[in-house]
Amino acid sequence: MFKIAVIAGDGIGTEVTSQAVRILKKASRILNEQFEFVELKAGGIAIDTFGKPLPDDTLKKALDSDAVVLGAVGGPKWDSLPYELKPEQALLGLRKGLELYANIRPAIMFDSLLESSSLKAEVVQGIDIVVVRELTGGIYFGRPAGIVEENGVRRGINTMTYTVPEIERIAHTAFKLARTRNKHVTSVDKANILHTSMLWREVVNAVQKEMYPDINLDHMYVDNASMQLVRRPKHFDVLLTENLFGDILSDEASMLTGSIGMLPSASIGESHALYEPVHGSAPDIAGKGIANPIASILSAAMLLEYSIKQKELAKKIFHAVESVLNEGYRTADLSSAGAKTLTTDEMGAKIESAF
Ligand code: IPM
Ligand code: MG
Repeated sequence: MFKIAVIAGDGIGTEVTSQAVRILKKASRILNEQFEFVELKAGGIAIDTFGKPLPDDTLKKALDSDAVVLGAVGGPKWDSLPYELKPEQALLGLRKGLELYANIRPAIMFDSLLESSSLKAEVVQGIDIVVVRELTGGIYFGRPAGIVEENGVRRGINTMTYTVPEIERIAHTAFKLARTRNKHVTSVDKANILHTSMLWREVVNAVQKEMYPDINLDHMYVDNASMQLVRRPKHFDVLLTENLFGDILSDEASMLTGSIGMLPSASIGESHALYEPVHGSAPDIAGKGIANPIASILSAAMLLEYSIKQKELAKKIFHAVESVLNEGYRTADLSSAGAKTLTTDEMGAKIESAF
């Protein structure tokens, strides 16, 4: 029995997650393996129900599961709450609590969506990049952090910190992933300025030298990397980066494909994993049944690949998405002249019957 914690969250999170679950149910029939789904609350809905974004019970049951499927958290209703109570804290708490240090964000170009990219087709056609973002360290979690007051002057403080073991383990993730792809890792840092980055570069070089001589490694300063991503994105295969740089660059990389609403992610640690769409809770379209479930469905496919080692089935789901798009079906976010516009549920059903 494979236990899947389902944290649908807020806004369109609930709508898209039910489509991911529908796909996982079909996968369980195909694999003849039983999945147990455990529904849990986190984010705004948990604040409304229990008074905090990540209830202890949610974290405990997530820790107790084999994988977590998450929708999205947050919305304007909770924006003005104090820092510790914001829905986003649920995400940070899950990442830290489950030790999900490796965030894997593929940016894949679907040929049928070429016209949705803001860049020229010849620049983006065939893009297949994976951002490997360190997720439990760096400035997101470094201490001291806070807003203090000294002699009547308020000061905001964050601390960027990385240890050698933290850098080593994420470097291993990137190099191993590159081995299954085009064997090219670009490590992003700001080693001309930041001490954390100097250590980062030193450690990434050492790991490569010692264990991955077959991988082609280059380094880029983060400002240059953000430029090269729009200038010649096909240069990139695996992009390895620390937490904050990865947050920024993964949004940039995903938009190259014209479809942040299509992109999945996996957050993986030694003994836990969480799968979620890259997009947020989209309060403006929540409850209308028009959200695009593809990112969530592809996140379910990543679950099958990484947590259940069913790469072939994951591929089938990816191809099912591709063929439904090729047939001209779209949700409202991607709709263009001549497209057949489907609701969230109809899109889920189409993909379910295509693999
Ligand atoms: C992401 C998001 C989160 C992050 C926020 C919502 C905390 O932007 O997953 O990329 O900054 O990591
Ligand atoms: Mg982000």
